[in-house]
Amino acid sequence: MIDRILDIADEPADEQEEILEVTLRPRDFANYIGQERLKQNLKLSIAAAKKRGDNLDHILLHGPPGLGKTTMASVIANEMGAQIRITSGPAIERAGDLASLLTNLQDGDVLFIDEIHRLNRTVEEVLYSAMEDFKLDIMLGKGPSAKSLRLDLPQFTIIGATTRTGSLAAPLRDRFGMIHRLEFYTPEEIQKIINRAASILNVKIKDQASAELAKRSRLTPRIANRLLKRVRDYADVNGDGIIDTEISIQALKLLDVDNLGLDTSDRKLLMAIIDNYNGGPVGVETLAAMTAEERSTIEDFYEPYLMQIGLLERTPRGRKVTPKAYKHLKQQKEDSKNSKLL
Ligand SMILES: Nc1ncnc2c1ncn2[C@@H]1O[C@H](COP(=O)(O)OP(=O)(O)OP(=O)(O)O)[C@@H](O)[C@H]1O
Ligand SMILES: [Mg+2]
Repeated sequence: MIDRILDIADEPADEQEEILEVTLRPRDFANYIGQERLKQNLKLSIAAAKKRGDNLDHILLHGPPGLGKTTMASVIANEMGAQIRITSGPAIERAGDLASLLTNLQDGDVLFIDEIHRLNRTVEEVLYSAMEDFKLDIMLGKGPSAKSLRLDLPQFTIIGATTRTGSLAAPLRDRFGMIHRLEFYTPEEIQKIINRAASILNVKIKDQASAELAKRSRLTPRIANRLLKRVRDYADVNGDGIIDTEISIQALKLLDVDNLGLDTSDRKLLMAIIDNYNGGPVGVETLAAMTAEERSTIEDFYEPYLMQIGLLERTPRGRKVTPKAYKHLKQQKEDSKNSKLL
């Protein structure tokens, strides 16, 4: 696959990017920009838990990729003065893996489970009682001589992250005391994130340029940081290293990112609906087949942003392209084309 700048895999694209993410990751609420309501709620819960000397309730964070779920989990642990262990749904293959993770925790520790919707069934069931009453039920042996053993666990906090709450089993969802959705950022917040990253990376960027980049970052911190890095490279090679608006626009043109932050793939998706279904509605499966993208990529990555900026609508009969999208892509709807001929 081509190297898509806007591509949002669950994992950073390469080692270099991973280093970048870790360097830029805010450690506390003060440096975590935006998500104000979420922060207020969390600050309150943290203060209350500390005052009572309790551990923090289990927390589920959901929302599109790259908005800062993993970052928030480590901020929460840090603000609690707790240790964090990081794992992910697919990494916990057997109930025994979960058991060893849990028995190695200490009171107050945070266990972060990324992609928690991908836990398998048997592991999930063990997690239920662990989350509910901090007990671990394990079976020793098999057949008639099997014995079940109940272990006491430390008072831990699970922070789960998922791009989709829909595919989380209800009994699991119910065991979280707090469920929070991360929202897209405002362009102003993204600009602050870019300026913060620039100062950490020692990159000189003009205010207008960071505003321009912010508009094209899909309202997503991970993409903002990634674009900043690409534009910096461009400025180093084609300019004097200082990022101004001119340089930003040229660099983004090279990456084929337009003024709404769409790239070739987004435009291809919208055009597929316009060309083949006169703007829709069209089912997501058909859309996946037409664009050769995974259904989950369309649902988790493309759609949330395209809907957020009002280019795409989800209706009971399928996906529809809005008049704003027609305008952005400089297209005309079939019937208005025809009416001109009449
Ligand atoms: N509120 C924020 N302020 C500043 N930087 C942020 C913020 N949120 C995220 N970032 C930056 O964006 C990067 C991506 O965030 P993070 O890895 O937490 O996203 P995520 O929601 O866990 O994504 P995924 O669903 O793909 O795992 C981080 O490395 C961090 O540098
Ligand atoms: Mg993450």
